[in-house]
Amino acid sequence: MLEKAKDWAVEAGKMSLELSKGSLDITYKTSPSDLVTKVDKEVERFLVKEILHHYPNHGIVGEEGTFEKKPDDFDTIWIIDPIDGTTNFVHQQLNYVISIALVHQGEGIFGVIYDPSRQEMFWGYRGEGAYLDDKRLQISRLDRLEEALLCTGLFWNRKIEKTKLLETIYQLPKQCRGIRVYGCAALELAYIAAGRLDAYVSLGLNPWDFAAGLIIVEEAGGVVTTWKGDPLSFNQAGSLIAANPGLHHQLLPFLQK
Ligand code: IPD
Ligand code: CA
Ligand code: CA
Repeated sequence: MLEKAKDWAVEAGKMSLELSKGSLDITYKTSPSDLVTKVDKEVERFLVKEILHHYPNHGIVGEEGTFEKKPDDFDTIWIIDPIDGTTNFVHQQLNYVISIALVHQGEGIFGVIYDPSRQEMFWGYRGEGAYLDDKRLQISRLDRLEEALLCTGLFWNRKIEKTKLLETIYQLPKQCRGIRVYGCAALELAYIAAGRLDAYVSLGLNPWDFAAGLIIVEEAGGVVTTWKGDPLSFNQAGSLIAANPGLHHQLLPFLQK
């Protein structure tokens, strides 16, 4: 199943690059910052078709809602984001990924995150480790917050305006070496697993944004929880913090303030 998922992700990536040469048919979902293109929909249709062809008894949760049955009715579900980072895809054709996770009875089995523009395949299998192509991944070992490179979308995230967090969050750059924002949650989680970033903090992510990344980060030795320190559930949206155990421990009280 893992090998099939990797093949589909590569195929979907080629499809996205090819389709990006034509009209993207961009439409707004809830606002001009919440985009969907015909590529998101076509890639999801492709993945759903492949999954159901090979595994007709499995359920699917996809961002674009192509699979209409209730996921709770299935023991095994695929959680897919056909294009994570749609805004980047539209503006840059860079920094977007295809994200695929397999979950069995609520437990994450494997995650695949493929970056078509760099041809990088991040993957993790529960109990077997996390990899970039064939290279084993190890989360950053850094435990001094002042030396850490953090990643978040919070400063520009409209969801945060509904909270009282902004003042706390603005303290974050003072505590670390720097902040990076890629605008693609799955890519950011893959970079945490690869040690390219030291910690990732986000609000209001959906399961298709974090499912594959969560498995890959944990398999690389990282800790992923909500801001309350609770485990994330694959069937609900949540806040998220991902880091090595030391940085996770330091950031959690800061976010809970
Ligand atoms: C979005 C990206 C972004 C995150 C948003 C997601 P999309 O996914 O992952 O980084 O901050 O919450 O919705 O819409 O590009 O699939
Ligand atoms: Ca997404
Ligand atoms: Ca998406």
